[in-house]
Amino acid sequence: MHTSVAVFLLGLIARSALAGTTVAPGGWRGWNNMHQMPANGSLLHDPEAHETHIIASNGTTLFSAPANSSEVPQQSGWITYASWLNTNSAPISSFKMTWTVPLAPKTFNGQTVFLFNSIEPSSGNAILQPVLQYGPSAAGGGQYWSVASWYVGPSGTYFTTLVRVKPGDVLHGVITLTKHLGNKYSYVSQFTNVPGTALSIVGIPQLTWATETTESYSVTEESDYPAGTTVFSGINLKLSGGKVPNVRWSVANDVQDGLTATVNTDGARSAKITVKY
Ligand SMILES: *[C@@H]1O[C@H](CO)[C@@H](O)[C@H](O)[C@H]1NC(C)=O
Ligand SMILES: *[C@@H]1O[C@H](CO)[C@@H](O)[C@H](O)[C@H]1NC(C)=O
Ligand SMILES: *[C@@H]1O[C@H](CO)[C@@H](O)[C@H](O)[C@H]1NC(C)=O
Repeated sequence: MHTSVAVFLLGLIARSALAGTTVAPGGWRGWNNMHQMPANGSLLHDPEAHETHIIASNGTTLFSAPANSSEVPQQSGWITYASWLNTNSAPISSFKMTWTVPLAPKTFNGQTVFLFNSIEPSSGNAILQPVLQYGPSAAGGGQYWSVASWYVGPSGTYFTTLVRVKPGDVLHGVITLTKHLGNKYSYVSQFTNVPGTALSIVGIPQLTWATETTESYSVTEESDYPAGTTVFSGINLKLSGGKVPNVRWSVANDVQDGLTATVNTDGARSAKITVKY
């Protein structure tokens, strides 16, 4: 989350698991606030009642969490990312990114690597993202690549059931604005070509800060990352009403980790960014 970016820039503090916590995109969190979404379920945020509900596909409320029940992440593992803040009056209506599942890292030391596009509200206290993961997380996983959509916010961490993918698979991570009324916005995050990865959320504040990110935890040697490069391509961003905004992706690298992101093609139309491990 951008407010906590400074925390990890302080250096490569040993990123090891903390007792009673688990890893999710955004940092280490308590186990008690992790929620796997039911198939075809959705999240309903009710700002008046200060609650977030998990709704089953048949409309039944399965769970309700106080909107402010989640702790602040204790560590943030964003290693390299590019970002853009929408200051236009029209909200972001869609944000797409395409990338290919890399070969597995040569070594496995229990590390977690997350690759994703995401959007956050201006407050930086939440994130919606279709995530490619190598290694374990709150959603499961292990010594293989898998995908899920995540919403991490003040009411907890919510994720779709992990789906295993393999090196060479092409992923299309898409976040779409489905509706907005006043200051309540509804979105869906999904891998359009992987069934079961759609996470819908209704009634949250506007998401304004778009990123393409590499995040990791418990990396102990360089070969814990995939070798070579990952190309984030087909980066397309549109505003409500169909306008394509003027976008300049701004890169942040954590030089101590030796990873870099380079903008090859800037803008909001078929932009391309290369992550070098
Ligand atoms: C979820 O939706 C998909 C696509 O509409 C459908 O094929 C599947 O049966 C649904 N699953 C459940 C558990 O409702
Ligand atoms: C709705 O779905 C939930 C979760 O799958 C189930 O527990 C419940 O019995 C269902 N309710 C109805 C009325 O079908
Ligand atoms: C959460 O919000 C409720 C209602 O606004 C408030 O009473 C409570 O103190 C808050 N809890 C925390 C931990 O901030």
